Amino acid sequence: MDISKQPIGIFDSGIGGTSIWKEIFELLPNEDTIYLSDSKNAPYGEKSKDQIIELSVKNTEFLINRGCKLIVVACNTATTNAIDYLRNNYTVPFIGIEPAIKPASLHTKTNVIGILATKGTLNSNLFEESSARINKQITIIEQIGEGLVNLIENGAINSEEMTVLLTKYLKPMLTKKIDSLVLGCTHYPYLIPQIRKIVGKDVKIIDSGNAVARQTKHILSEYYLLNTNIKFDTSNIFYINKDKSVLEKILSNFTGVTIEEIDF
Ligand code: DGL
Repeated sequence: MDISKQPIGIFDSGIGGTSIWKEIFELLPNEDTIYLSDSKNAPYGEKSKDQIIELSVKNTEFLINRGCKLIVVACNTATTNAIDYLRNNYTVPFIGIEPAIKPASLHTKTNVIGILATKGTLNSNLFEESSARINKQITIIEQIGEGLVNLIENGAINSEEMTVLLTKYLKPMLTKKIDSLVLGCTHYPYLIPQIRKIVGKDVKIIDSGNAVARQTKHILSEYYLLNTNIKFDTSNIFYINKDKSVLEKILSNFTGVTIEEIDF
């Protein structure tokens, strides 16, 4: 069997990781993908490290059993808490996503950067280690985005409640003069229009989606796993363990995607 023809597996605690899938889909048009949305267990950010590892193992095995050649952990919370465990226990290559504080630290002029992420990400050792490597002159204002993932999962992206929460989380960062805002959760790129209205045009909003897609391409190529067959219709299957209507809406601009509700 030619493993390079097998799909890329992608998982997240919910539908947010589709922000990463979109980048991969655009950068790697020959690749088949399988996306797993563990929406039933979202948010991961409120769970313990052990619980996040357990769920990440379940998701990984689901994707390996469907023949995935590489797995993208399209969730900052699962990456920062579980990727070491996954890499130590499975042979398939893993790509993770971490908050882009390094690019933000290179961009800032005020030397104050903000990060909006889940409690699980901000409290993780991996995040602590990455923050410790940033230039000491730079202040990082951390904010837990409590409630945001749930609202997105429930389709309330443009709700009044969302605006109230975002304003509460972001206004204090503006008072502290951030000029760069890191979105440390793959759900949050869906909030960029609302965030932009609150922070204004001068704050740079940074997420890691494109970097993850480029790293995926790089690792596939390094492991001789890139699918070099030119294809006009790839297979892109989305499995979700909750109602699929919000996911359908998010993917409505893409043709050739299959969305299946399944119990796992
Ligand atoms: N998309 C996940 C992340 O990037 C959300 C985590 C959660 O479910 O709390 O962190």
